[in-house]
Amino acid sequence: MKKVQDHYFHKARKEGYRARSVYKLQEADRKFRIFKKGSCVLDLGAAPGAWSQYASKRLGKAGRVISVDINGMKGLGPNVTVLKGDIYELEPQFLQDCLGKGRHFDIVLSDMAPRTTGNRSVDHLRSIALAETALSFANSLLLPGRGCFYCKVFEGSDLLEFRQRCQEVFKSVKTFKPKSSRAESVEIFLFCK
Ligand SMILES: C[S@@+](CC[C@H](N)C(=O)[O-])C[C@H]1O[C@@H](n2cnc3c(N)ncnc32)[C@H](O)[C@@H]1O
Repeated sequence: MKKVQDHYFHKARKEGYRARSVYKLQEADRKFRIFKKGSCVLDLGAAPGAWSQYASKRLGKAGRVISVDINGMKGLGPNVTVLKGDIYELEPQFLQDCLGKGRHFDIVLSDMAPRTTGNRSVDHLRSIALAETALSFANSLLLPGRGCFYCKVFEGSDLLEFRQRCQEVFKSVKTFKPKSSRAESVEIFLFCK
């Protein structure tokens, strides 16, 4: 596997982030104004934790981040709760209960990616399955008429259909390819509001 230590890799190190992927969220935040102080965020596929680190800082002390991944993480910040688990085995109500009564999620993030096989079509369909699950969590957990969903998906045959399903749930759906996402990467992001 090619490991390129590019400009964003070094920038992430210098700024104390665990992965260069943080800039794929920061760019979207600058464009779509995702975060507000005090908001609650569900971060799906959060390991090693760069998006959660970023969200934690942007939300401030009153905000909360619930970070979910198959892999465990530690030390992400005082307002971050880490859950080690498989998204396919979790229920939205469990995540709501983790957040606690009287609070609701404002933002659902998904940077989930399947373990790639090298078969582009298989990887695409697995990525769509993860993104579909993230969408159903967003649909269950965000309050009607409020909130946003920022989700990674690998390009391929079923992307249009997935985008349409996002359009059934959200008023606005925008496709976004951050500069920090390598041009040769098949990943793209949807920002839904
Ligand atoms: C690209 S990484 C996320 C990077 C993260 N946004 C960051 O900034 O540190 C994708 C993550 O998706 C997670 N993932 C893949 N399938 C998952 C599943 N079924 N349930 C939970 N997490 C999953 C992987 O374990 C991996 O850590």
